[in-house]
Amino acid sequence: MSELRGWPSFPEELPAFDPADVPAEPHELFLTWLREAGEHVLAPHAVTLSTVDADGAPDARVVILKAVDAAGFAVATSADSPKGVQLDKDPRAALTFFWPGRGRQVRVRGPVSRCDPEVSAADFRDRPPASRAEAFIGRQSEVLDDLAELLAAAEEADRRVRANPELIAPGWTRYLVAPLSVEFWQASHDRRHVRLRYRLGPAGWVTERLWP
Ligand SMILES: Cc1cc2nc3c(=O)[nH]c(=O)nc-3n(C[C@H](O)[C@H](O)[C@H](O)COP(=O)(O)O)c2cc1C
Repeated sequence: MSELRGWPSFPEELPAFDPADVPAEPHELFLTWLREAGEHVLAPHAVTLSTVDADGAPDARVVILKAVDAAGFAVATSADSPKGVQLDKDPRAALTFFWPGRGRQVRVRGPVSRCDPEVSAADFRDRPPASRAEAFIGRQSEVLDDLAELLAAAEEADRRVRANPELIAPGWTRYLVAPLSVEFWQASHDRRHVRLRYRLGPAGWVTERLWP
């Protein structure tokens, strides 16, 4: 086994995080952190979406965060993809953001629901033509035995999208992760990393510090 040591995880200068001075709602703090991360890392809105499969085994992949507000964190994918099928069966998920340039991690957990079809359709319309065409290729994550089949499907998908730019891929779905907890993690070089978790209680959000 190759031991991997010596790569720094964080820059020398890390931002301060005062958990006593935070907004009441976690999405507000999240947006502040996201915007700050955008100045230091590529794709700050790329996030690991974790789900469980039919056997209860974990699965995870990176997706793009589409929107966020008090109701939750929105991502989009094909409902026919493995993650879509997993979410239909067990609509719970975790989202993990990691912004190395800031030494920050955010962890979100909660139930997942499908957004209204009009919202999913609007999400699809906003995608660039190549991404819309990609969704029409379908069969995401199936084993690819024959590259020629993919090329033919991609050409056909391109043709369809060019001929009818208003077409919506049938399975395209926006999902909303409604958080029950959101943890903000700030690295510190003295290893006393600062962790603050918002937890949704019966009377609203409560915050609690966590041991590093
Ligand atoms: C930076 C990045 C962004 C991605 N964004 C999305 C996305 O928004 N939606 C999506 O379905 N797949 C996205 N993918 C591809 C997924 O990681 C994954 O390969 C694909 O959705 C199949 O996942 P599944 O087999 O678990 O359903 C992205 C990949 C990367 C690296």
